[in-house]
Amino acid sequence: MQVLLLGAGTVTSRLGLLFAEQGHSVVAQMAAFTPQHIDLFDFRAIVVVSPESSISPESLVKAAERGKLIFVVAGVGDGMSSWANGAGVPAVAYPPSDVDTNKLLEEMRRAEAGNLAADDQYRRAVLGSDMSARIQSGMAIRKIAITSPKGGTGKTTVAVNLAVALALSGITTYLVDADGNAGALSYHLRLERVNTTLIGLLRRELAARKETHAMSTIANGAAYLNAFTTLENLPTLKVLPGLVTDDLGDEVLQQEDRVEQVINGLYEAGVSAGGVVIMDVGINPAHVVHRAALKAAEGIAIVIKPEIPDLAETRRWIARMINSLANVVGKSSAHEFVGSRVKLCYNQVVGDGFKSAHKMLQQALAEDKIELALIPNGILPNVDPRLTAQAVNSDRREDILIWRYRKEKLEELGPFADALLGFAAHFVPAVREGASRVGLLPPAAKKRSWFGK
Ligand SMILES: Nc1ncnc2c1ncn2[C@@H]1O[C@H](COP(=O)(O)OP(=O)(O)OP(=O)(O)O)[C@@H](O)[C@H]1O
Ligand SMILES: [Mg+2]
Repeated sequence: MQVLLLGAGTVTSRLGLLFAEQGHSVVAQMAAFTPQHIDLFDFRAIVVVSPESSISPESLVKAAERGKLIFVVAGVGDGMSSWANGAGVPAVAYPPSDVDTNKLLEEMRRAEAGNLAADDQYRRAVLGSDMSARIQSGMAIRKIAITSPKGGTGKTTVAVNLAVALALSGITTYLVDADGNAGALSYHLRLERVNTTLIGLLRRELAARKETHAMSTIANGAAYLNAFTTLENLPTLKVLPGLVTDDLGDEVLQQEDRVEQVINGLYEAGVSAGGVVIMDVGINPAHVVHRAALKAAEGIAIVIKPEIPDLAETRRWIARMINSLANVVGKSSAHEFVGSRVKLCYNQVVGDGFKSAHKMLQQALAEDKIELALIPNGILPNVDPRLTAQAVNSDRREDILIWRYRKEKLEELGPFADALLGFAAHFVPAVREGASRVGLLPPAAKKRSWFGK
């Protein structure tokens, strides 16, 4: 493993020799470390020998955010040692005894073998291990489809920002472009090299055509996880691009059972790896890819603008879904299925105009004899078009709205960030805790006082 060794004393040098003997390669040894050093060297792990170096935990958090593995050697009572314990970063005592040294080497071997994943280190380093465990256990809805009855309402914008918000807050997030009309996810995330794509997986599935027995199911789980590309500057976000225009007529898209198998496999793989899976699903629910993604979702986010054409289409979409389900499972189960899954997200909202829009939708559904207690789960404000353009046109993926808010704290993005995290909390209730720890939430607005000025 490529190691950056931090420290300038005899203990550090001794460890350096030992690492080399064990087959690791020390790319540099230095006494001070700042985030600027991250791009200067090519390394996988940092070993900090605390008393012999000068490093702040903040710099190590930055390194963890970039997917670096961290190991600490520090004395009891050393601030670095309490930071490491709080964050769940592997740490041994300084000066290390033989037992400690072996433990350190063992931790490094485990990490190299993939038992200490970069996303887990990110989570623990930025949130602390207690909160990271809380957030991990507090996921209510892990299979999320994001769709809309009309085009251009903001599905991809919401899917991308929701995924980045969850990932920045410490939740491992698997984002899939499941828009069968050729989606745009890879542009939003500026993906150049990817492991594979959804159409790639589907073709492989079609070519394999093997019988399914237990071992191949397990192997498939790993194959689905490996299909995702991890963002090197956000190890908790894994992305699978979808179809491009040239793929739309592909014969594999005629095979509904294969498509369902792959979509279910992706949902299951992400969830069993402890994450949340978000699928950006195109507008036509009759498309095989869309149908499979909607069918297996635990939460269906419907992104609409609070405008009559969107409301009318949403009314039809919900009525169609309930009626076709009612034929199979009965009316009340159909209501329950849809009511418990659908999360309405009003997008590009100006002022409180969505309130009358929402009332109109409820009345229209009541006229259709559909009794659903739908609430506006998301109310995302309209964002300055210059910022939305940069979010997809610039050459930095950190210009994605929510990511940019975290970095630059642009005041005009505050309401969007706040509303987005409010929507995210319908899926992962604990997300706001992580989000506030990493600086994704605007400072709480001052309570207005009714007494005096
Ligand atoms: N909250 C917002 N404020 C301002 N502009 C927005 C907002 N959400 C989305 N947009 C803009 O609306 C346009 C459509 O958004 P997007 O591509 O996310 O929609 P979509 O539903 O995925 O479209 P398609 O049906 O083509 O897949 C984009 O130009 C995007 O920047
Ligand atoms: Mg889209």
